[in-house]
Amino acid sequence: MDKIIVLDFGSQYSHLICRRIREFSVYAELVPFDISMEELKQKNPKGIIFSGGPSSVYNSDAPLPQKEIFDAELPLLGICYGHQLIVDKFGGKVKRANKEYGSSVLMIDGESKLLDGLGSTVRAWMSHGDEAEEIPEGFEIIGHTQNARAAAIANKSKTVFGIQFHPEVVHTEKGTNILKNFVLNVCKAKQDWTMEGFVEKTVDEISKIDGNVLCGVSGGIDSTVAALLIHKAIGERLTGVFVDNGLLRLNESEEIEEMFKNNFSLNFHKIDAREKFLSKLIGVADPEEKRKIVGEEFIRVFTDFAEKKGPFTWLAQGTLYPDVIESGVSKGPAAVIKSHHNVGGLPDWLNLQVLEPLKELYKDEVRQIAKILGVSEKLLKRHPFPGPGLAVRVIGEITPGKLSIARKASKIVEEELWDAGLYDKVWQAYAAVGNDKAVGVVGDERKYGRIVTVRVVDSIDAMTADWTRLPNGVLEKISNRITNEIEEVTWVSYVISSKPPATIEPQ
Ligand code: XMP
Repeated sequence: MDKIIVLDFGSQYSHLICRRIREFSVYAELVPFDISMEELKQKNPKGIIFSGGPSSVYNSDAPLPQKEIFDAELPLLGICYGHQLIVDKFGGKVKRANKEYGSSVLMIDGESKLLDGLGSTVRAWMSHGDEAEEIPEGFEIIGHTQNARAAAIANKSKTVFGIQFHPEVVHTEKGTNILKNFVLNVCKAKQDWTMEGFVEKTVDEISKIDGNVLCGVSGGIDSTVAALLIHKAIGERLTGVFVDNGLLRLNESEEIEEMFKNNFSLNFHKIDAREKFLSKLIGVADPEEKRKIVGEEFIRVFTDFAEKKGPFTWLAQGTLYPDVIESGVSKGPAAVIKSHHNVGGLPDWLNLQVLEPLKELYKDEVRQIAKILGVSEKLLKRHPFPGPGLAVRVIGEITPGKLSIARKASKIVEEELWDAGLYDKVWQAYAAVGNDKAVGVVGDERKYGRIVTVRVVDSIDAMTADWTRLPNGVLEKISNRITNEIEEVTWVSYVISSKPPATIEPQ
């Protein structure tokens, strides 16, 4: 499989570069900027992209790749900070400039493989505080903006390019064409990244592992697909374990058990651990503390099961790429946003190796695999649900009363979205509840009841999300039903914050 390697210098858009390239069926992988030459050679890339990043190349602590990369004679594309790095390392000069954020017009100068087919001008998204003052010898300017004379440069042999703007963001017009020009025409990478190919390769790799695999299944698409892939590779050596942690949605535990038993032929066990989880969470209000407790308890339950029913060598999880990036575990200098429970931080006493067959994939890629593996439409349409479950949707201390409100209210939200034909058009939809109360009037009496918060979002991969502009009629029905059917609730609020700056879950 042909690969493009993206070196991550810390831009919030780094992962999007991979995303865009994979969209035209070429495999792209994000790696830390200081990856060793040995590791890089092993990956055998067709070309390298330097991402943007918040640093300045002239600072003493500027992140630098291995210097041999510049002599490797591989096609190189630098974006923003990566552009400045190319200017600097090939002998040009970068200076501090007036900060430039947002849309600029890129004027294309002469002909180049990189900007081929774009016409004479395109809108380009800028986000930088430095610019190339002198371009290196042997380079020419192939595009400029009003503020940046050298907004796009190419070397004479036409394999090294630098662009000051971000082609990976949707605000850059024809940005994907620029990436395509680099990847397909300069690097000559083949478009051979298909989900069928991924299934074949992954099943083949997993079939080579020794020992038995324990796979946590939640009933969600990610862990189900992970389990089915592993099952395809090693059959009976896989055991799927579903833990009822007391933090699931209404009737979810029974529905998942039924689905696995009726539809899939893998070994399936359900563990009732409600008491264990909920007793550990009594009196805990801090969100990160709750996540930590749930994560640790999951591992403990799995380890206990492994000791009793083992031996198992592997613990498999349906971790996805966005979980890995957001947890800041493996890739570049991205900040930790939330500690997603299913990544990293495994305790020393856990003597199971971790198998994460989906950790390079985005959600929509997993959905494509699910279809290939014959997963039902009903499961495919299910919204993602966080590993720590209602622990992150009950704000503050978790109590049976708040859990019950969150369950009933979320069910109403889901039912009303199905009814309006909107459930499978949105990314996630739920109701959260905290300690806040508001006064209501029931009959002739004033009542001090709970505030329920409804959150519905649109998203493509959970990295960013927009709040869904639901029709007023649907909102009204949701609100009426929640206050009528759940006695403790007096107010219903709707979240109108997008991600960023908010996140999808409240905690
Ligand atoms: P946030 O709230 O970070 O959520 O915008 C992004 C996506 O991830 C889900 N989520 C999790 N999934 N373990 C998971 O498996 C977790 O700890 C976790 N926290 C959030 C969330 O539902 C959304 O789809």
